[in-house]
Amino acid sequence: MKLLVTGGCGFIGSNFIHYWLKNHGGDEIVNLDKLTYAADPSNLKGIDSSRYEFVKGDIADASVVDPVVNDSDAVVNFAAESHVDRSIVDSGAFIHSNIAGVHVLLEAARRYDKRIHQVSTDEVYGTLSLDSDEKFTERSAYAPRNPYAATKASADHLARAYFNTHGVKVTISNCGNNMGPRQHEEKLIPKTIINAINGSRIPVYGNGMQVRDWIHVDDHCSAIESILSDGVIGETYIISAGYERRNIDVVKRILQELGVAESAVEHVRDRPGHDIRYALDSSKIRDALGWKPSLTFEEGLRKTIQWYKNRGGANGKNM
Ligand SMILES: NC(=O)c1ccc[n+]([C@@H]2O[C@H](COP(=O)([O-])OP(=O)(O)OC[C@H]3O[C@@H](n4cnc5c(N)ncnc54)[C@H](O)[C@@H]3O)[C@@H](O)[C@H]2O)c1
Repeated sequence: MKLLVTGGCGFIGSNFIHYWLKNHGGDEIVNLDKLTYAADPSNLKGIDSSRYEFVKGDIADASVVDPVVNDSDAVVNFAAESHVDRSIVDSGAFIHSNIAGVHVLLEAARRYDKRIHQVSTDEVYGTLSLDSDEKFTERSAYAPRNPYAATKASADHLARAYFNTHGVKVTISNCGNNMGPRQHEEKLIPKTIINAINGSRIPVYGNGMQVRDWIHVDDHCSAIESILSDGVIGETYIISAGYERRNIDVVKRILQELGVAESAVEHVRDRPGHDIRYALDSSKIRDALGWKPSLTFEEGLRKTIQWYKNRGGANGKNM
C-alpha cells in the first residue's frame, strides 16, 4: 500500500510515519507537508528512504494535492494548524489549512476515488463540567468553543458531508491530548519538561484545574492503524486511553520526575474561553475494532520525559 500522510513533519504525523513503516514492511509513504513553524524535518531522521518520499506543499493547493492523492491508495490527514493559543491571536491560517485544506483533500479523494482518514480532536465537543462524570461519545453534539476547535469541527462536518453526499470513503477519529516524542515545545508537556530541565519558571494557565484526556502518541497511531484496517467507512471513532488528568497534576508529576521543586510553577493569566474538562468514552473503537492502549499514563509520561532529556533542550541545540 502507498499511503499519503499529510502534515508528517509535525508531532503526530512524524510519529505515525515511523510507526507505520516499522509495522508495515513493504508499504510506502509520501509525506506532504507545508513546513510551517510547527514542522521539524529532523523528526523523520533515520527513516527508510527507500519507502519514503517527501513533498513540500500546501494541502489547500489542488495543483500539489491532486497528483499525490491520485498516486496513493489512501490519505491520512494530520496537516493542520494545531495550537489553540495561536488561533486566538489570529485564526486566518486555521481557516486556510484546517477547513480550506481539508476541502481540497476531500475533493481530490472524490475525484480519484480514494479513501481518506481525517484526524480530529476532542475539542470539537466543547467542554464538560468538573463535577460531572459525563464523557463525550461519538453521538455528542459538536460545540467547539475556540477558533482552532471550530475549524476542526468544520472539517469533520465537511468530511461527513462528502461521505453522505458524494460517497467519499471517509473515516474520522477524535482523540484527546497526545504526549510523546517530537512535539513542538509550545505545548504543555514539552514546554514543562524543557523549562524544568533548563531551570526556568513553569507557566501554568490560571489555577491549572483544567482536565485533559491524555494518550501516548504511539497508542494514537495504533488506533488510527486499527481504523485504517478494520474501521467502517463513514464512521467516526473516539480515541482515548482514559487518562483524565488536571494540568497542574501533569506539571507537578513532571517536576517530581525531574527533581524540580513545585515552587518553580508560575500561575499565569488563563487562556480566554479556556475549556475546563475534556473526557472521552472510547467504548466504540475498543468494542468494534478490538483496539486498546498499550501504555499507562505513567509509562507514557516517563518515556516522553526521557526522550526530551536525551534530545537536549530547545530543538536539541541549547542545553
Ligand atoms: N497534538 C494533539 O494532542 C492532538 C490531539 C488530537 C488531534 N490532533 C490533531 O492531529 C493532527 C496533528 O497534530 P500535531 O499536534 O501533530 O500538529 P503539529 O502542529 O505538530 O503538526 C502539524 C503539521 O502540519 C503541517 N501543516 C500545517 N498546515 C499545513 C498545510 N496547509 N499544508 C500542509 N501541511 C501543513 C505543519 O507544517 C506541521 O508539520 C492535527 O490535525 C490536530 O488537530 C492533535
